[in-house]
Amino acid sequence: MLEVRGLQKRFGSREVLRGIDVSVRPGELTVVLGANGSGKSTLLRCAIRLLEPDDGSVALCGTDLLGVRGDALRQARRRAAMVFQSVLLVRRRSALENVAFGALGELPLRQSFSTRLFPNEIRARSLESLARVGLADRAGQRAATLSGGQAQRVAIARALCQQASVILADEPVASLDPKAADAVLSLLADVARNERLGVLVVLHQPELARRYADRLIGFLDGRIAFDRAPHAVDDAEIEMLYGDDDDER
Ligand SMILES: Nc1ncnc2c1ncn2[C@@H]1O[C@H](COP(=O)(O)OP(=O)(O)O)[C@@H](O)[C@H]1O
Ligand SMILES: [Mg+2]
Repeated sequence: MLEVRGLQKRFGSREVLRGIDVSVRPGELTVVLGANGSGKSTLLRCAIRLLEPDDGSVALCGTDLLGVRGDALRQARRRAAMVFQSVLLVRRRSALENVAFGALGELPLRQSFSTRLFPNEIRARSLESLARVGLADRAGQRAATLSGGQAQRVAIARALCQQASVILADEPVASLDPKAADAVLSLLADVARNERLGVLVVLHQPELARRYADRLIGFLDGRIAFDRAPHAVDDAEIEMLYGDDDDER
């Protein structure tokens, strides 16, 4: 679904990705663990070409992402949705409107400017997506008044409404309390398995990773240290990712 091969990226003289291979498969939740600065966010950004990699290949739902430009790139990119640590919702718009924005790329440009007049089909799909994340009763609520966990679930509903095949989530629970974090991870695992999406999540909580991941990837200094089922990864291997120097964390 998302196939990253030999991905390399440098910033100046600093090699941040040193030949990364990652496969995100439908129906699977993959968790990436790794210290700050190890290149996790750079990988996610290169994987949907928000950043230009220096070398390697990215195939997203069969499209060679590095070989397309303009409209073809925009179309291909719509197969993936990003979920960030701080939720990018339009705060004064309702939950429903924010979810519907996920579908707007499909509309002719002029229509997409009048965001209050969504076609019925998109309205219905947005409501369905909100229901899917357990927030049907919040459809009319302004995004600014949602809790952090609810806002993150709205972001996931937006990805569903976009009909993305892949969700890439960069520390989506970093600013949430443990209960909300658990709910968001549980939801991501659920949409992976039941909607057959490929989901890749960057986390800093090994225990959450173990509970929900189908696959654990350890990122160490721009390389992959391991990529296996959670039960086959030792705690010591995870600890090694973070080194023994507290100042580095
Ligand atoms: N746009 C950029 N320009 C220069 N250096 C960058 C840029 N983005 C990230 N870096 C550097 O690349 C390294 C990896 O960053 P990042 O991918 O954000 O790590 P992580 O998400 O694992 O914490 C860091 O050393 C960071 O400072
Ligand atoms: Mg990061």
